[in-house]
Amino acid sequence: MVKRAKPIRGIKACVFDAYGTLFDVAAAAKAAADDLGDKSGPLAEIWRTKQLQYTWLRSLMDDYADFWKLTGAALDYALAATGMKGDPALRRKLMELYRALGAYPDAVATLHALKNAGLKTAILSNGSPAMLRAAAKSAGLAPLLDHVLSVHPLKIYKPDSRVYRLATRTLKVGPAAICFVSANGWDAWAGARFGLRSVWINRTGAPPENLPGKIAAQARVLADVPRLLGL
Ligand code: LAC
Repeated sequence: MVKRAKPIRGIKACVFDAYGTLFDVAAAAKAAADDLGDKSGPLAEIWRTKQLQYTWLRSLMDDYADFWKLTGAALDYALAATGMKGDPALRRKLMELYRALGAYPDAVATLHALKNAGLKTAILSNGSPAMLRAAAKSAGLAPLLDHVLSVHPLKIYKPDSRVYRLATRTLKVGPAAICFVSANGWDAWAGARFGLRSVWINRTGAPPENLPGKIAAQARVLADVPRLLGL
């Protein structure tokens, strides 16, 4: 599903959110399904929800800690909530799986198509620089990315507008020349509110967000993005 009649024109760079957009955040719990049994689904869900809540709350509390630390804190909460705390080996295994999350199956081909068309490509993520480097490398995306941008130097998380400004500043193009791709609806809307041309990857058929900002388009999968840009 590509919801847009006319291609998005004037794009010079494609900037991707990382977790949930390029990298499958549920993959760590799935890969540990033998250890987790029927708790795998609930654990993945609570882990991700808490991880995002902690980014928003820490930003509001003006008490930044990096995304690796928040991911661990969120996992501890999820393990406790699903009755599985007190197993350091399981915790270690899940964190190691998270460090090397796989990419969605169409991520490599999509980045290839964009680069072949002469566009710059980048990640813009809450992830700490070390996490992003490790995941991009293990998923085979590193050679296809011109920049891997982390919020870390800013010490604030999305959706603070300074994060989206990091993309325009680094790429040295105006916001309307950047296609920002995110499967996190709130992130796509916040990027649009800043002025980026946001494409929301809506894999689950969720309703649109009621937030400020006007997204440029929505799509079901990453592979739809080149077509949306008229490539
Ligand atoms: C990121 C979060 C939103 O990668 O998943 O920035």
